[in-house]
Amino acid sequence: MHYNKLGWSNLNVSVVSLGCAQFSDQFTKTQKTEADMIAIMHRANELGINLWDTAPSYGNGASETIVGKALQGRRDKVFLATKVRYGATMPEQVEESCNDSLRRLNTDYIDVLQIHWPSHDEPNELTIAGLAKMVKAGKVRYASLSNFNQDQTDLAWCVFPVISNQLPYALVWRYEEPLIKYCGEHKIGVLAYSPLGEGILTGRYDENTHFPPGDVRNHVVFFRDDVKHLALQVTAVVKQVAEKHHMTPAQVAINWTARQPFISSVIVGSSSIAQVEQNAAAVDFTLDEEDDTVLLAASDAYMATAPRFRTMWADA
Ligand SMILES: NC(=O)c1ccc[n+]([C@@H]2O[C@H](COP(=O)([O-])OP(=O)(O)OC[C@H]3O[C@@H](n4cnc5c(N)ncnc54)[C@H](OP(=O)(O)O)[C@@H]3O)[C@@H](O)[C@H]2O)c1
Repeated sequence: MHYNKLGWSNLNVSVVSLGCAQFSDQFTKTQKTEADMIAIMHRANELGINLWDTAPSYGNGASETIVGKALQGRRDKVFLATKVRYGATMPEQVEESCNDSLRRLNTDYIDVLQIHWPSHDEPNELTIAGLAKMVKAGKVRYASLSNFNQDQTDLAWCVFPVISNQLPYALVWRYEEPLIKYCGEHKIGVLAYSPLGEGILTGRYDENTHFPPGDVRNHVVFFRDDVKHLALQVTAVVKQVAEKHHMTPAQVAINWTARQPFISSVIVGSSSIAQVEQNAAAVDFTLDEEDDTVLLAASDAYMATAPRFRTMWADA
């Protein structure tokens, strides 16, 4: 595993980290037992993955609860990143959300507490002030952001020094590149989420793929009928590069995101031991200039032709 400093801090975070949204019924794609989920987290940790990312909204606390169980006996080996629950904008609400997370996570501190999404109704400065209070109280080590645009990030920084901004970044989602550069130049770490395009880049799906009602992927833009055929053209190139280097397509997609400028860590949602082993090893491979050229050309073509959505969830 390789490690990067997260933003201006001294936290050495693994380049590949573990997303924990899939450890709840709400975002589960592959079904898993509680024992399976704990085993995935422990294997990730053994492989050097030291950053775990969860949120109160993942299964209404279910993901945090299972992460809390997996953490026991290894609290000092994990940088725990979680988020402020949706709608908690006022300082007292941030405190309540933070206390609920601490209880579910069964710990007395959170390493990185992120505001999940900026508010469009309430001043985000108040939410940041709430985060600052949690840092001063010793409940949180670092205040952080997620899905904040440049102006919102600037404003946050004026209230309190935030450590990172969590943003979507994949070969099929590069809209945030200017913002990533801006964050990096201002020593704000970037945690890149959904590098596999929620699975479309893994090569497991084709034009005929459809999910049953209730499956979270019915809401993912890359699986829409008007987008899927375009995203699969990128996947086809990812597969070619993977075959050339004896890698899996998932490894190529993760490797690409991890190597982009200013990326501190890539948050991947691993759903099995085999996946987490593959994903942890993704950054051990070296792609050559020719690979990068073809990947970028495929990605550019997609970005130029695919319809643009505000988020990765079409109806969000
Ligand atoms: N801040 C935010 O607003 C935000 C939003 C979204 C995500 N996130 C964070 O980012 C994390 C990752 O996002 P994500 O899960 O949405 O997207 P992702 O990492 O792009 O895709 C994860 C899915 O890809 C499949 N997969 C993973 N490794 C694989 C491999 N080696 N081979 C084949 N398939 C593989 C799994 O599907 P199956 O389960 O079907 O096997 C897994 O659920 C989340 O857990 C969360 O921590 C944050």
